[in-house]
Amino acid sequence: NGPMKLGLAGLGTVGASLARLIHEKHNALAARSGRAINLVALSARDRTRDRGFDASGCEWFTDPVKLATEGNIDVFVELIGGAEGAALESVKAALNRGLPVVTANKALLAYHGVALAKLAQRKNTTILFEAAVAGGIPIIKTMREALAGNTVDRVYGILNGTCNYILTRMEREGMSFSDCLSDAQRLGYAEADPTFDIGGFDAAHKLAILTSLAFGCEIDLESVFVEGIEKVESADIEAAAELGYRIKLLAVAQRTDTGIEQRVHPAMLPEHAALAKVDGVTNAVAIDTDLLGSILLAGPGAGGNATASAVLSDIVDLATGAHLPALGVQPSNLSPYKRARMR
Ligand code: NDP
Ligand code: HSE
Repeated sequence: NGPMKLGLAGLGTVGASLARLIHEKHNALAARSGRAINLVALSARDRTRDRGFDASGCEWFTDPVKLATEGNIDVFVELIGGAEGAALESVKAALNRGLPVVTANKALLAYHGVALAKLAQRKNTTILFEAAVAGGIPIIKTMREALAGNTVDRVYGILNGTCNYILTRMEREGMSFSDCLSDAQRLGYAEADPTFDIGGFDAAHKLAILTSLAFGCEIDLESVFVEGIEKVESADIEAAAELGYRIKLLAVAQRTDTGIEQRVHPAMLPEHAALAKVDGVTNAVAIDTDLLGSILLAGPGAGGNATASAVLSDIVDLATGAHLPALGVQPSNLSPYKRARMR
């Protein structure tokens, strides 16, 4: 096999880390994939900014749709963000051209995942998204591959690193909500619009994707109950601690008699519970299944290298040909629930 040529749109926290890692790990990735993985084309808004990696030799496109349409590439990697606009249009353009897409964009998938997967199937290509849920934790491949023989009853956990970072530092260091949020933004954990984090919407996007994979139903964002952490005050955290509890932003999807219940909200967890001990930007996902009982996966939920690690796993899958087809479920066939519902 010849080298695999990547086009990368979005050179922010995740995109710049990915570009750096592709250069630094070039030989190791080639050994792992059986072929070189070369970054050949880039897109971002500001061409002049130093992003901490050598971009010489890469073709530059200010318009990511043009990169997706005209770039001399084998794979399109979308790390722009947002459910509409440049992210959506460039991903559609790449899929329409028959190119495989790798994305970390959970908002895009929560709103358009089903349509994009169907487009990918029609074009005989795929869209991979390991990085879209829980950052570096390999939850998508776990759900789609390792748990394939299981029936999932419940999937729940901490899916937003920014919120967990804020709640942890407020409790441990007595910092104010706004100072913690500023730090999370500075560290590259928060979304471009951090109300997606603190309002619970980012966790809802991720939960809707997980629900679809866990229960074999279509992504249904509208049925997720969402309450964020904006109203959590230091006094609430202190009062919970006095009673032996910690406050966490929980995301829960579970099978009920009437459908799949999906919810995101702050919850008081007993301090000895496994999820209560998850601190800082760490995420954790618990999955209850018929064959395994309960398993827990934990790890870095946000940040450049952690997220780029997950993006790289999809890229290597494409390079070796070990990748999965678009979306893990055939909604109308597998699910007793046409759509996930909140009752
Ligand atoms: P950033 O905001 O840091 O970077 C976004 C990049 O997209 C920037 O390079 C920006 O260009 C570029 N961009 C924005 N609009 C356009 C446009 N119209 N045309 C071309 N380029 C554009 O985002 P992140 O790296 O943090 O996140 C990227 C994606 O990964 C998002 O979907 C996010 O939800 C997801 N994600 C992020 C994680 C994290 O820890 N940060 C973790 C998991 C997923 P410029 O630099 O020139 O302004
Ligand atoms: N803003 C997100 C978070 C990034 O804080 O979890 C990872 O998806």
